[in-house]
Amino acid sequence: MASNGLPAPPQPAGTVPNNEAAVKIAEVPNTNRVQRTAAHSHIKSLGLRPDGTADTTSHGFVGQTAAREAMGLVVDLVRAKKMAGKAVLLAGGPGTGKTALALAVSQELGTKVPFCPMTGSEVYSAEVKKTEALMENFRRAIGLRVQERKEVYEGEVVELTPEESENPLGAYGRTISHLVVVLRSSKGTKKLRLDPSIYEAIQKERVRVGDVIYIEANTGAVKRVGRSDAFSTEFDLEAEEYVPVPKGEVHKKKDVVQDVTLHDLDVANARPQGGQDVVSMLGKMMKPRKTEITEKLRGEINKVVNRYIDQGVAELVPGVLFIDEVHMLDLECFTYLNRALESPLSPIVILASNRGLTTIRGTTSQNDAGLVSAHGIPPDLLPRLLIVPTHPYTGQEIRRIIETRAKLEFASATSPSLSDATPAQQGLKISASLSPEALEELTKQGESVSLRYALQLLAPAGILARARGAEGSVIGGDDVREAVGLFWDAGRSAGAFTGGEGFIS
Ligand SMILES: Nc1ncnc2c1ncn2[C@@H]1O[C@H](COP(=O)(O)OP(=O)(O)OP(=O)(O)O)[C@@H](O)[C@H]1O
Ligand SMILES: [Mg+2]
Repeated sequence: MASNGLPAPPQPAGTVPNNEAAVKIAEVPNTNRVQRTAAHSHIKSLGLRPDGTADTTSHGFVGQTAAREAMGLVVDLVRAKKMAGKAVLLAGGPGTGKTALALAVSQELGTKVPFCPMTGSEVYSAEVKKTEALMENFRRAIGLRVQERKEVYEGEVVELTPEESENPLGAYGRTISHLVVVLRSSKGTKKLRLDPSIYEAIQKERVRVGDVIYIEANTGAVKRVGRSDAFSTEFDLEAEEYVPVPKGEVHKKKDVVQDVTLHDLDVANARPQGGQDVVSMLGKMMKPRKTEITEKLRGEINKVVNRYIDQGVAELVPGVLFIDEVHMLDLECFTYLNRALESPLSPIVILASNRGLTTIRGTTSQNDAGLVSAHGIPPDLLPRLLIVPTHPYTGQEIRRIIETRAKLEFASATSPSLSDATPAQQGLKISASLSPEALEELTKQGESVSLRYALQLLAPAGILARARGAEGSVIGGDDVREAVGLFWDAGRSAGAFTGGEGFIS
């Protein structure tokens, strides 16, 4: 008997052997980080036509057509898996849409291709070596699609009864000794007596009678597939997915496809250190998990991954590693990057920088002014890059970007995501629109100061218009001018201090 109470199944041929090299592949938790990209939420994709050419305005993107087309090609190359080990550099002035382009690439690639965004400065941490941090992100950007034939019990839940018994510790109360689940499929029903630990999994998935679920025989993992369509006549307002009663026997083999990244595998296989006593438990909590992933472990995982690829059970999905503000990396990191790009397990790397000629970090010392290079990238990495330039926007493009952004900024305040906000937050809702004069005024700021400054003025101008009690909350030119008076741009702020003694007077 397996520990989960299910009979231990024989190992099916041609699939991932379970005990192989003790490297976990099944049920690896996802370690993706949640990304908040509020500043770019108006950008939905690169906005390309099917033939790969760019519309002037599409999917929230305005202008910058050449760069968008180039990034469209990069997306095609990634999809065709021809791009591994190559690097692209987005080079252009501040606020010309480099970060926006990279995020649009991630949206084009969809959720199945890994996309790992990071900023150059992220590598500087007291806990982890710089190259270690880079390596981790490299491995976040390489996916593995594992196809497994799993032994499962699948069916519609007909009965779900926890069986109780006296608490064996003699205390008051009762414990669950077994869970009885009756599953029905098109070929019959089967009664399973399961370990109480599975009861938690079932509760977590919120399984009730009438749901279609499957339970993995090896691990006891429970997955809710949907609601059985035999129940679809019930009046249910919630968005339920109705699925037919599974065909075949309840106990069967099922092909399951799982997408993981190499980093997911590293984390899942990093062995916890020490025993189970309290001191080592504490040590575990205080020690960052990152340091537990050793070079040796990665080597082991690579070996197993390669074997699975050879056997045809797994497929490599090279994704995208995006390093924003790449001039923040230092010489050591660049050398590492050079080497990593040449390894067979490498994603496509997209770099972005708004610097021109600048000192390479890590080359300066007390009596050395350092090495100056384009974008702060050493001359041995530069020739390996495909460089995509981004250009400053024309006044007309700035106007359209502001318009697009305004639509989102003022509409999103009333979107359902805010509907459960507290009354105080509700009070902050802005629903406004731009008057033509306000748009002109913002465009002027966008041209004379920067696009980013103009975009940042939108929200305060909206609040000012509302505070003024403007009719229909239409933002007027005065509201924008007032916002400009209240919030300085960088140039004005710096200008106010020139000639001073270093203190704000
Ligand atoms: N072509 C465009 N269409 C629509 N919005 C854009 C476009 N270009 C930039 N934006 C928006 O303008 C703002 C600034 O752009 P972004 O942050 O991408 O610039 P950047 O090139 O990364 O600048 P930096 O070098 O300062 O990091 C963002 O909110 C972005 O979404
Ligand atoms: Mg940027």
